[in-house]
Amino acid sequence: MGKVIVFGNSLFAELVHFYLTHDSHHTVTAFTVDSTYIHEDKLFGLPVVPFENVESIFPPAGHHMIISAGFQKVNRLREERYSQAKKKGYQLINYISSKATTFPGLVTGDNCLILENSVVAPFVEIGNNVTVASGAIIGHHSVLMDHSFVAPGAILLGGVTLEPFGFVGAHATIKERVTVARECIVGTGVSVTKNTREKGVYVGRPPELLPKSSDELGTWLSWSLDPHKQGWGAKEVVSQQAVGVDLRP
Ligand SMILES: CC(C)(COP(=O)(O)OP(=O)(O)OC[C@H]1O[C@@H](n2cnc3c(N)ncnc32)[C@H](O)[C@@H]1OP(=O)(O)O)[C@@H](O)C(=O)NCCC(=O)NCCS
Repeated sequence: MGKVIVFGNSLFAELVHFYLTHDSHHTVTAFTVDSTYIHEDKLFGLPVVPFENVESIFPPAGHHMIISAGFQKVNRLREERYSQAKKKGYQLINYISSKATTFPGLVTGDNCLILENSVVAPFVEIGNNVTVASGAIIGHHSVLMDHSFVAPGAILLGGVTLEPFGFVGAHATIKERVTVARECIVGTGVSVTKNTREKGVYVGRPPELLPKSSDELGTWLSWSLDPHKQGWGAKEVVSQQAVGVDLRP
């Protein structure tokens, strides 16, 4: 639809450039980043300009912007640049992947990213500057408030509230009708069943390390250089190769 400046020059910014180029009507025309972070003046052949005076180079009248920062400083960095970009007069766009599942009536603010294979169920409300990463599931009637971030594969069951600046890590699960309080961090793989405390950091039990290595497991998994001791897995690879030869025309 229009020309867009991507804030950022990190790998995440490269990803956002890719998404917009291949899966949107927008055209990325430049990148912008704080001047101290400019190491190259071009990225993908596009200019990288200082955020401090981006408005005098690519004025907001002809360009929109998207802030591609992640959840650094518990989402504060993204919020800071989001607010500054708005103050400079930029309209901030959303990117909703064509491969995400969403439903009619979805309410979102601006500068939201909803990535591939995520599912945002009916009656969900999403505020400003929110990221729903790949494969996350946002249950019906959930509310994701401003500047929050849901990492890949996280599951928020129905009626969950994620308060401003909240972060839910990859593969975490939040039970239905639970509120994740402001500025909370829910670590990867954690299951949250009760309302959390503001600024709380929630982690689960670390996995247990077995007192043996992977080549000391049962024959199906173990690998030995001695052919007489090879397990069932190794024999199967050999027989698949033989079948492959037989099937050639
Ligand atoms: C919770 C979290 C933010 C803590 O980060 P951190 O301050 O860098 O802390 P560390 O990773 O050094 O972990 C501190 C301790 O907590 C433990 N821990 C951290 N996260 C844990 C988790 N999810 N489950 C169990 N234990 C965890 C670590 O093993 C470590 O234990 P130790 O002190 O005995 O060594 C981080 O572990 C996490 O889960 N980040 C989210 C990652 C993610 O989802 N990214 C998405 C990218 S899009």
